[in-house]
Amino acid sequence: MTRKIVIFDTTLRDGEQSPGASLSFDDKIKIAHQLARLNVDVIEAGFPISSPDDFEAVKAIAGEIQGPQIAGLCRAVEADIDSAWNAVKPSEKPRIHTFIGTSNLHIEHKFKSTKAEVLKRAVHGVQFAKERCDNVEFSAEDAMRTDLDYLRDVVEAVIEAGATTVNVPDTVGYTTPWELYETIRFLFDNVPNIGDAVISVHNHDDLGMSVANSLAAVQAGAGQVECTINGMGERAGNASLEEIVMALKTRADLFECETGIVTQEIMKTSKMVSNLTSFVVQRNKAIVGENAFAHEAGIHQHGIIMNRQTYEIMTPEDVGVAESSLTLGRRSGKHGLRKRLSDLGYDVTDEELAEVYERFVEVADKKKQVYDEDLEIIMREATDSMPQVWTLASLQTTSGPQTMPTATVKLVREGQDYQDAACGNGPVDAAYKAIERITGVELTLEDYSVRSVTMGKDALGEATVHVKRNGNEAVGKAASTDIVEASANAYINAVNRLLVLEMRE
Ligand code: KIV
Ligand code: ZN
Repeated sequence: MTRKIVIFDTTLRDGEQSPGASLSFDDKIKIAHQLARLNVDVIEAGFPISSPDDFEAVKAIAGEIQGPQIAGLCRAVEADIDSAWNAVKPSEKPRIHTFIGTSNLHIEHKFKSTKAEVLKRAVHGVQFAKERCDNVEFSAEDAMRTDLDYLRDVVEAVIEAGATTVNVPDTVGYTTPWELYETIRFLFDNVPNIGDAVISVHNHDDLGMSVANSLAAVQAGAGQVECTINGMGERAGNASLEEIVMALKTRADLFECETGIVTQEIMKTSKMVSNLTSFVVQRNKAIVGENAFAHEAGIHQHGIIMNRQTYEIMTPEDVGVAESSLTLGRRSGKHGLRKRLSDLGYDVTDEELAEVYERFVEVADKKKQVYDEDLEIIMREATDSMPQVWTLASLQTTSGPQTMPTATVKLVREGQDYQDAACGNGPVDAAYKAIERITGVELTLEDYSVRSVTMGKDALGEATVHVKRNGNEAVGKAASTDIVEASANAYINAVNRLLVLEMRE
């Protein structure tokens, strides 16, 4: 008999806590739709009390997404729980996910409290949530550094209080597969009412063992795994959904478990998340890395031609790779573009298609082939609903050996042109200084990077800037075959995001 493992995706909550990742409202909705196509069982859509934006995004996802349960995270505090409930209740399948730290470190240093008091707060949190929603998950934060007997008492008490799922998180990525296996077994053997709840795990990757830990927990009897696309998450990230799902599928002989995941949607989901968060997937990453199904050595290629199973334990088609090798070019019409976008998970309206097509033609004029990675970026730029306070009208730079790099920039705001010039360490620095002089917006540049979106010298370069001003942070992104132009547009994009944030305050 195979067991069904509940796949709880927390890309939009823990994943979004990745340093440097921040998703707009529209990005979150797009990802939530794709997670529904991937058929995850639970989407943790956010932490509603953490900000009004998070609250609105969770509420919109709850109202719009059909299929998966929609969870909202909250501390075991009444105001948090109410906020989470108000955000998830439009869902046909809402879940409140409440948590409290249970390790001595958390109890003594974070709460300056006692074990008995924290146990009471955990139980009260679950009861308060249960009065609002039938489906309540409780997490014992830092469970893997919690005294085992106390963890057992907490698990028993929260199940008694009505928790339907109890999560045992390795919050700091400290545990090992063997230790987690033993902990889950211990709970099964020592918590009398354990059969009344699903036992879940949530592993962080600080020591690179999060996927192995999750699989060990499944072998010990855990029925839910919390994970993220591309392993995004706090610090070193969370266990990667695609790795867990494909391990369970490929080694079904060993695990005797199945998930409801439509594995052919994995690649699309990975690309969408990577693109919208600007978190690049390393080439050799398992399952979704560019090299995951590439065979370089002649002896391997020969084996693959004779019989794929010689060097492949799963097929690229299983995770949706083969479908994505088609490319579009200058002559591809709107129908072809719409079909390819739909294959990538974007169902566009006629209006959106017109905008995307315009930008597609511009890119196709500069590049021979437009790849899926390019389309993801075109799609993001053409459907960004953020108000364009400033836009770039023209940019001229000079740079080179024995030359003082300079930039002349013309920007437009409300139909009026503004122009200025500046010198800098290089053309990008000069352009940023000129933009600063025109807009009067002084920023702290925390991070700047440029990556090639695809291979080849005509590839789009995507620039990403992470900036701060007056306590607000923003990430600006832009792409072009000209990387100085991409860099200037990314900076303007970040300026616009900050101005919009400041206008709302
Ligand atoms: O890592 C963690 O402990 C968490 C909990 C809130 C589930 O993210
Ligand atoms: Zn976490």
